[in-house]
Parts: sequence; C-alpha cells; structure tokens
Amino acid sequence: MAVQISPSILSADFARLADEAARVENVADWLHVDVMDYRFVPNLTLGLPVVESLLKTTSTPVDCHLMIEEPDRWAPDYAEAGAGSVTIHAEAAKAAVRTLRAIRAAGARAGLALNPATAVEGYEDLLPEIDMLLVMTVEPGFGGQRFLDIVLPKVSRARTLIDKYGGEVWLQVDGGVSTETIERCAEAGADVFVAGNAVYGADDPARAVEELRNLAERATPPA
Ligand code: DX5
Ligand code: ZN
Repeated sequence: MAVQISPSILSADFARLADEAARVENVADWLHVDVMDYRFVPNLTLGLPVVESLLKTTSTPVDCHLMIEEPDRWAPDYAEAGAGSVTIHAEAAKAAVRTLRAIRAAGARAGLALNPATAVEGYEDLLPEIDMLLVMTVEPGFGGQRFLDIVLPKVSRARTLIDKYGGEVWLQVDGGVSTETIERCAEAGADVFVAGNAVYGADDPARAVEELRNLAERATPPA
C-alpha cells in the first residue's frame, strides 16, 4: 500500500476550517477529523453538523476518528453524511462487528482504533470486517502530545497479523507523528499517517505533508 498522509484538523484554526482544509487540498490523501465527546476522552471538539459542512467545502476525502462513548449509535451517521472513512474505538464499541458493517453498508471505509494499552492480539479475527486498523501512538484526546515509542512493537505485530491475513487492511498511526518519528512508524509497517501539529503547526502545511510523505516512503520496507 502506498504511503498516505492524513492531516488532522485538530491542530487547525476551528474558526476557519474551510480555509484550513484548502491548505492541504490536492496534497493530502485524507483530512483527519477528530470527534471527541468529553466522555471517551477529556476533550470536546465537533460533531456531525460540522463534518457535514466540511464535506461541502473540500474535495479531500474525510477520515473521521470517533473518540466517543457511543460509536455504535453515531458512527453510521458519519458514513451516511459522506465521510470516506469512519473509525471507531475498540474500547468504546459494544457491538463492533455490527457497527463496522453498518459503516461499510453506508459506503465508507470502516476503521478500528486501539488505544496504547489495548493489545492488538484478540482483534485479528475482526480483520475481514475492517478496512483500516488505527494504532494510537499517544493517549487520545489532544494534539501536540509526545509520540509513545512503546507502541512501536504493537505496530510491527499489527503489520505481521495484517500480512498473515492477506486482505487489504490499511495500518494507520495517530499521535505525535512528525519528521522525527514518521520513519520509525513506516519501518514498523504503518502506511497511513495522521499528523496534526506537524502539518498545521508548520508555516507551509502543504510542504509539511510532502516532507512527511517523502520520509515515510523512503523508510517503508520493500514489499
Ligand atoms: C489525538 C488525535 C489526533 C491528533 C494528533 O487524540 O486523535 O488525531 O490530532 O495530533 P498530533 O499529530 O499533533 O499529535
Ligand atoms: Zn485522530
């Protein structure tokens, strides 16, 4: 799978989201939207109405990362609204298989996210139900946190499980991904890279995306 970069608008200016999305249009593969509900994580961001408005202003596919307590209830709505990818947390879902199937049925790619303390082992039987596995490389909730190196062995184990399964499942990393850390993520087998601060904290977000992409491509092991 080719390297993909998904800038997180969590580090963008929320009052100017359309402009901020435009700054990475035609450069980024996805626009990563962090939905937080003050319950699953100690932060509150935005919900479906904002995602619906954003979808109207950008041609970049939207990658919704739901850090919410009730993904089973809300995730299908994001897919129906037109998000290209909807990711739910394994720790929050009570009926993950049903919800992942509902996301796919609504026409989006289905993602499953794992917090740093959640083992990937035990989720391998769900690989046929997902299009992307998200391994969190920080505790979810805030942008600009320090990358957790301790998660890298899990990224490698996830890569091994996905390769053994043989289907097309993307492996995303999210949290603290920067020019300092992206190569280690790529070496461990990640192929979709979320970056908030590293993109929107840069003077030129589009250039930051290209820089991250080049580093990840050079560090990706040959197939
Ligand atoms: C954290 C979010 C991330 C966040 C990443 O809970 O899921 O998507 O925006 O931001 P950086 O890249 O700044 O760590
Ligand atoms: Zn995220």
